Amino acid sequence: MNTPHLNPRFLEALKQALDGFPTPFYAYDLTVLEEEAEALRKAFPKARFFFALKANPALLPQIKALGFGAEAVSAGEVERALGVGLSPEEIVWNGPVKTPWALQRFQDRPPVTVLDSEADLLRVSRHLKGAQVLLRVNPDLPVRTHGHLATGRGESQFGVLPQKLPGFLRRAEGLGLLVLGLHLHLGSGLDRAEDFLEGYAVLQRLRTAVGPQRVLNLGGGFGLDLPLGPLGPAMEDLARLYGAKIWLEPGRRLVAGSGVLVTRIWGVKRTRKTYLLLDAGMTSFLRPLLYGARHPVLPLYQSEKEAVFDLAGPACEAADVLARGVRLPVPKEGEALVFLLAGAYGASMAMPYLDTPRPLELAWDGSGWRVLDFCY
Ligand SMILES: Cc1ncc(COP(=O)(O)O)c(C=O)c1O
Repeated sequence: MNTPHLNPRFLEALKQALDGFPTPFYAYDLTVLEEEAEALRKAFPKARFFFALKANPALLPQIKALGFGAEAVSAGEVERALGVGLSPEEIVWNGPVKTPWALQRFQDRPPVTVLDSEADLLRVSRHLKGAQVLLRVNPDLPVRTHGHLATGRGESQFGVLPQKLPGFLRRAEGLGLLVLGLHLHLGSGLDRAEDFLEGYAVLQRLRTAVGPQRVLNLGGGFGLDLPLGPLGPAMEDLARLYGAKIWLEPGRRLVAGSGVLVTRIWGVKRTRKTYLLLDAGMTSFLRPLLYGARHPVLPLYQSEKEAVFDLAGPACEAADVLARGVRLPVPKEGEALVFLLAGAYGASMAMPYLDTPRPLELAWDGSGWRVLDFCY
């Protein structure tokens, strides 16, 4: 993984924020967010973008202002997207389970809804009559990422296998839904262009069976080390083949690099290993435990002496370790460090286990800090 460099002014601002806010907190550099949005637009100039809200709901107002719609996976996320003023046509509603009462909430203003299974199709056609829909294809590919993130494998619970898609399409049309096109999301954190190209090839092979479509939603999944260059032309070929517009749902790639998790160190402890004890742990930052994710660590202090530490959180769980084997200066009590690339699936996955309060989320716009609202 490429270790990012923080803007020195952002770094300075972080040190000031430490005087005013309790740790742990997430901090986002909005100038990086704007750069990432620009890089995506440049790589895919003809695409329409829907931000995968799950990656960082608190940043939705800023991301909407950059011209993005939203991808939602729950009624709560759809409400959040409507709440910031996105129209139903600017919201894509995904997910394998949409309950009758969740669907009923949006009867009068249905978002573009992704059909994930036969049962989903039936419920959506019953409660969102005539809605605009996309059909989720499970491409049945061995995508390379952490197993928890590989939604495009045939054994995952998502979408409809390619051979079943033509029948699925006829059924959706027969039930009065307006099929806009197909949806493909291979997984999250994919760093190989080949995985995407193989996914697009699955759609290419389906063209004869499913006919032209208005929309191909090619999902998100762009890993931080993925070269975007080879994907643009391949997407455009596919769009031409189908006569379709390309929609994309990036989450991680848009927001990960803008965010850091700031935590203070409350002790150095030796058992058979040497630990730094932090006030952030699995309840504030689940990714290391859930996905084995490794986030670069940057100390906000200096010391002559260095040592190798495991970084443990405050929970009574041996699993509450955010990083292992990190060489760092030896800290004094209360000094702070940051986990980098923490802007995606960080704060959004924070949990109340152990009555832990949600970490604050702060945004820096190049001049000052703002506390972000998590709830609207
Ligand atoms: C359907 C769908 N679209 C988009 C995304 C966003 O993925 P990423 O954050 O890797 O871009 C996800 C993430 O799981 C997803 O499930």
